[in-house]
Amino acid sequence: MSTPRFPIIGLVGTGAMGRGIAQIAAQAGSTVRLFDNQPEAVARAQAALGEQWDKLVAKGRITAEAAATHKSRLQAAARLSDLADCALVVEAIVERLDVKQGLFAELEGIVRPDAVLATNTSSLSVTAIAAGLKQPQRLAGYHFFNPVPLMKVVEVIAGLKTDPAVCEQLAEYARQMGHTPVRAGDTPGFIVNHAGRGYGTEALRIAGEGVADFATIDRILKDQVGFRLGPFELFDLTALDVSHPVMESIYRQYYDEPRYRPSVITAQRLAGGVLGRKAGEGFYRYDGGAAQMPAEPPVPQVDELPPVWVSTRAARRAELLQLLKDLGARIETGQSPSPNALTLVAPLGFDVTTVAVVERLDPARTLGIDLLVEDAATRRRVLATNPATRRDMAQAAHALFARDGKAVSVIRDSGGFVTQRVVATIVNIAADICQQRVCTPRDLETAVTLGLGYPLGPLAMGDHWGPANVLEVLFNLQTVYGDPRYRPSPWLRRRGAIGLSLLHEEA
Ligand code: NAI
Repeated sequence: MSTPRFPIIGLVGTGAMGRGIAQIAAQAGSTVRLFDNQPEAVARAQAALGEQWDKLVAKGRITAEAAATHKSRLQAAARLSDLADCALVVEAIVERLDVKQGLFAELEGIVRPDAVLATNTSSLSVTAIAAGLKQPQRLAGYHFFNPVPLMKVVEVIAGLKTDPAVCEQLAEYARQMGHTPVRAGDTPGFIVNHAGRGYGTEALRIAGEGVADFATIDRILKDQVGFRLGPFELFDLTALDVSHPVMESIYRQYYDEPRYRPSVITAQRLAGGVLGRKAGEGFYRYDGGAAQMPAEPPVPQVDELPPVWVSTRAARRAELLQLLKDLGARIETGQSPSPNALTLVAPLGFDVTTVAVVERLDPARTLGIDLLVEDAATRRRVLATNPATRRDMAQAAHALFARDGKAVSVIRDSGGFVTQRVVATIVNIAADICQQRVCTPRDLETAVTLGLGYPLGPLAMGDHWGPANVLEVLFNLQTVYGDPRYRPSPWLRRRGAIGLSLLHEEA
């Protein structure tokens, strides 16, 4: 093992995060002096980490010798002044600006003039934390994720006055600890908590409009896009006492930017204590820790399916016609649907009702299908009715598209279905992060895939489903909702034609 960039570090605050950072720092070869203002907290952290390493020995992942070495590198500090010889001090205490400022002011009088100071804040301004210091240039953000040893990304955040060399050193040290550093500007939510605004907030908006229930929205996003957890499963896991304040804080810090607008749904549930898994009840009920998923609506039995007519303006029309053929549908080829035909439209961004009216189709027989994502690449098809759709037509469409055994969800009409709205919102927020130069496109993709576990980085997601399609969805959503939250970022508009993940072009 090479000598760590910082052979002796101090860690202030030995709760969930401090412990995790201490673990990877000790494993990288640093001596870690642990300080907490609750005296037992340090002993608890040492005991917990000791157990952790013992478990790794039992599993044969590390040797008993290595475990003993790691343990010997954790040293309790009784007083803050015991951190005097540390080349780096990382702070993971309570998330309060005044308390963090006070701690760093005190540390400045203790550590060497060339020691680096780092804060693990997730929501405060690094610039504000450093503001009162004599040497604000030596303080940077070092934002890890929970649980630290498993979440292998760290945001290195430069405040307004931070010396770039300090960020370099922290990035190098992160790599020595086995983590991937990404560089972020000192902006609300930095990269990961900012990029994460699209998924949950748009899903809440969709649920708030009564387009589909929570479980259906979760199923659609998991099966169509490949998210590991649906947005409501994720809310339940994180718990609303954590995630709702983050939504509010980022919205407020961006001076009420409509893209980040939180939802009354989570405000109410937070107020009512319906917090998520840890409360036994959230968007789902929990029995013995397992979510009680409501059953999917069954596929209707339909004896005779009507013929099908597909709008000439449908997205992926050739693909849809081939799919219908494979499903054994009787396809009409006339200029307009016959009086009995099930009529299909496949809009991008627009709602089914608007399309039926504009194309002069009989709304009673018209349903929409979401074809932003190619059918072969998904595990679920999503159909949307409009307020006039006849029940027999909705049932016929459901039965037809389920014929090959693929899952089908039928939702109520909404501009952009579920996937289009959520994907377009994620891509648009990511584009705006690039526009604001919060980070490079490459670091954005790395931070989101490692920090949020998305199947693709948001820019790659946009390229995968076509930047022009994403733009079309956004333009049309703006028309349907008249809401500035769907206004495409200029960065996205400029790259709509040329591709988003031009990672070699970092400027
Ligand atoms: P925690 O509550 O588990 O641990 C905080 C520890 O700091 C406690 O042991 C407490 O006794 C100690 N402490 C509080 N004030 C202190 C002071 N003035 N001096 C010395 N010790 C003090 O909190 P957690 O979750 O570890 O969070 C710590 C920091 O990390 C916060 O700034 C938080 O925003 C940030 N963070 C938390 C994440 C999480 O998922 N929990 C993720 C990323 C960042």
